[in-house]
Amino acid sequence: MRNLIKVFGKNPSKAISLVEQGISKQEIFERTKQTVGLYNVNFDVYEGETFVLMGLSGSGKSTLLRCLNRLIDPSDGHILIDGDDIATMDDTELRKARRKKMSMVFQSFALLPHRTVIDNVAFGLEIQNISKEERYLKAEEAIAKVGLKGYEASKTSQLSGGMQQRVGLARALATDPDILLMDEAFSALDPLIRTEMQDELLALQDKLRKTIVFVSHDLDEALKLGNRIAIMKDGVIAQIGTAEEILTNPADDYVSEFVAGVDRTKILTAENVMKRPEPVVSINSGLPVAMQLMKRHGISSIFVVDNEKRIKGVILIEDAVQAVKEHKTLHDVLITDVPAVAPDLPVKDIIPMAADSNFPLAVINDNNKLMGVIVRGSILGALAIKVEDKNDLT
Ligand SMILES: Nc1ncnc2c1ncn2[C@@H]1O[C@H](COP(=O)(O)OP(=O)(O)O)[C@@H](O)[C@H]1O
Ligand SMILES: [Mg+2]
Repeated sequence: MRNLIKVFGKNPSKAISLVEQGISKQEIFERTKQTVGLYNVNFDVYEGETFVLMGLSGSGKSTLLRCLNRLIDPSDGHILIDGDDIATMDDTELRKARRKKMSMVFQSFALLPHRTVIDNVAFGLEIQNISKEERYLKAEEAIAKVGLKGYEASKTSQLSGGMQQRVGLARALATDPDILLMDEAFSALDPLIRTEMQDELLALQDKLRKTIVFVSHDLDEALKLGNRIAIMKDGVIAQIGTAEEILTNPADDYVSEFVAGVDRTKILTAENVMKRPEPVVSINSGLPVAMQLMKRHGISSIFVVDNEKRIKGVILIEDAVQAVKEHKTLHDVLITDVPAVAPDLPVKDIIPMAADSNFPLAVINDNNKLMGVIVRGSILGALAIKVEDKNDLT
């Protein structure tokens, strides 16, 4: 999307030039009575990612999504898909791009109620000059993908909401588009069904690797589904980033307030709260080296690693002091039963472990390599928990 502007109203040209001068949406409305739906929007969506457009009602999510396939004509700017500008295509080119490149899934399902599941799914292929036989083969495949095998001959009006939206999804998938556009696709469903459909989409996306642009006003849904999320406000993108980036580094007060209620412990992982594993001591070193390092860095325990940085254990300062007096070696006081976590473990699962442990938690990869360490303080820092609330964790 390049410098995309959408003005609702009969005379957009004046409004467009005011947008280009940086005049606010509010002032443009006062001066021209034109509503700016999209205010100079720029962003990229990467191939194979799920990109979520997120924001309050009226922030411009649907307008932006509908510009992508020109259900809404943008007033100015460019929409480049594989280098072709959707914004300037004539009707023939546009029809071709819509057929080949993208499908849309609507909140309202938009099914033909008196037709069967398979007829609804095959419907999207009808306009593509594909033989009837092939249409129904492709429709069957798509129906199987969304878990509706066996329901091909059912009337869609007889299905539950969740199943109807599966039909909507199958219809979109039947044409095998590169891009799926989904506008609040799960918002009309009951909470349990909604969660189920989100999981289903994640599982499907794992296999299909479509490029998905998903509109949602629900932050939890956005955080769950989006590889990246764009937070919209008044036709402007306030911030684009991963869930972690947005939660840990909100671009402005608006985004901060928006994400304030989110349970960060579910989003942030070990990787996000760990510190660099420094210092560590080599398994080939002696106890005096370990003690020296702990003293110099003011720490009460130190991780022991081999030449490949694989974790061998931990040494506590009090054990080391005692051991030196008794002429023991590093191996004698090495604690090998060290609590370790994977980099992608959510913080909510780490907190109880950190609370029970006398030394930092080790974050290790699949090869036992020490990636980082987690001390209780760094969890609190990352969660930005106020000092007076700290008692819960200590
Ligand atoms: N057809 C239209 N005519 C006039 N204003 C519109 C039209 N469609 C949307 N808008 C305005 O554009 C803004 C964005 O709307 P929309 O994209 O539907 O928001 P969202 O999907 O985030 O709820 C709102 O201020 C809305 O009132
Ligand atoms: Mg909308």
